Amino acid sequence: EEVRPLVIAVDGPAAAGKGTLSRRLAGYYGLAYLDTGTLYRGVGWLMMHRNLDPRNAEEAAATAQGFSLDLVADADIRTGDVGKAASVVAVQPAVRAALLQYQRDFAARPPKGTQGAILDGRDIGTVVCPDATVKLYVTASDEARAERRWRDLTLGEPGLSLSQVLEDIRRRDARDSSRAEAPLRPAPGAHLLDTTSLSIDAAFAAARRVIDRALGDRRAE
Ligand code: DC
Repeated sequence: EEVRPLVIAVDGPAAAGKGTLSRRLAGYYGLAYLDTGTLYRGVGWLMMHRNLDPRNAEEAAATAQGFSLDLVADADIRTGDVGKAASVVAVQPAVRAALLQYQRDFAARPPKGTQGAILDGRDIGTVVCPDATVKLYVTASDEARAERRWRDLTLGEPGLSLSQVLEDIRRRDARDSSRAEAPLRPAPGAHLLDTTSLSIDAAFAAARRVIDRALGDRRAE
């Protein structure tokens, strides 16, 4: 009998700590990690780079259809402007459709030497991997998230104010949550993890408890 690969789905709003948490979980459980925001950021950055308007549906679709991760450098896509462009292109159903298969293939065929995959984003538990072994929905207060993101971004953008980052995050979450296609929301069966007053270590421990329990249940089936 074929053993289904272990798949962990991590969703939540911007700057909730999904990436840090997912990377640590990947190391601990021996999983391949895919930050799916990278794909949307890549499409957003490519459009900016080519002087295209990210709101243009046809051009966004064409950019996503021709997209490959080696067209972008990771350092270029970690800015606030690219995050916003990513959220704008992510509204387009044709963009989401073009990026879906890559994400599903990653989850279904994790690289050799790994036990499975962990993916983080906005719609992993709801759309990309609805049959995931474990689903986490990671949140934190708007203020906590803004402060974390601000600390990351001010290294490269020294003039940026905390209130500007808070406003940008709120606008981005509103757009990601209100879109018609694959909006941000907890998947059925997702475990909520509020990291507002948790250290990275505490969030990691809490996530491990949820996952270990789910893996115990899976073995007992
Ligand atoms: O996680 P992030 O900040 O890198 O994501 C950037 C944007 O990409 C986010 O605001 C919305 C979009 N996105 C999405 O729609 N679905 C995903 N699975 C991941 C990201």
